[in-house]
Amino acid sequence: MTATITVLPDAATLAETAAARVEDSARAAVQRDGRFLLALSGGSTPAALFRLLASPDRRERVPWRQTHVFFSDERCVPPDDPQSNYRMAQELLLGSVPVPAAQIHRWQGEAPDPAEAAGWYARGLVEIAGTPPRLDLVLLGMGPDGHTASLFPGDAALAVADAWTAASSEPHQGLRRLTLTYPTLNAARQVIFMVAGADKRAALRRALAEPPDTALPAARVHPAAGALEWLVDAATGAQTTTGEATARQGHRQGVDGEQ
Ligand code: 6PG
Repeated sequence: MTATITVLPDAATLAETAAARVEDSARAAVQRDGRFLLALSGGSTPAALFRLLASPDRRERVPWRQTHVFFSDERCVPPDDPQSNYRMAQELLLGSVPVPAAQIHRWQGEAPDPAEAAGWYARGLVEIAGTPPRLDLVLLGMGPDGHTASLFPGDAALAVADAWTAASSEPHQGLRRLTLTYPTLNAARQVIFMVAGADKRAALRRALAEPPDTALPAARVHPAAGALEWLVDAATGAQTTTGEATARQGHRQGVDGEQ
């Protein structure tokens, strides 16, 4: 499996590039299968992407009526909580595009039992995406500690190999989380990481090292039969070997993954 690293000059160009990737993936999926199975990432980085996809001149580029929207992870909070990934996506994107409500698959962050909520989500995932649940495109971010989705260093969810979802915990505040597991992430047809900011520099260098430092949860995402691309901004220190003009379009440099 070869990962592609695309270095963009700034976060705005990264969002533009990510929007183009989502649109391309959506059109290909609908042409191939009549539907598009998309998982949105949480955190703050995707906000600019969501606003672009929801903008008047772009919102019809994705066939939203044939799209199922999942979430790579969720915080164990109600859907109207400011920390909810669902709430951010609903406010910045989903409320502005014609995706049928029945095709928005929200984690039950408000459920009293996170493990039960994880099992419920897995059943819904399999019902739509099959076994293994093969999503067309999974969007992910990465924290400065190398976590991705809600897979945090040292968490038991990292070792889950027999379930498509898991409950986990954010290590600093102890907030309970819900997350897709590696079996689901690595079953995807396409995974795109969006990583911006100097605070990710050290983790990104370790994740993209040869071989990747698999102590970082993000470094263990490698779709067995899918494409992996890292969209990173120049502030992360990732190098490109071509001129600025090429970097502006997003220079792709092949990096042999660990397989
Ligand atoms: C979450 C995300 C998480 C996020 C990273 C990066 O629910 O917080 O799923 O994995 O992608 O923490 O977050 P930023 O984009 O805010 O840097």
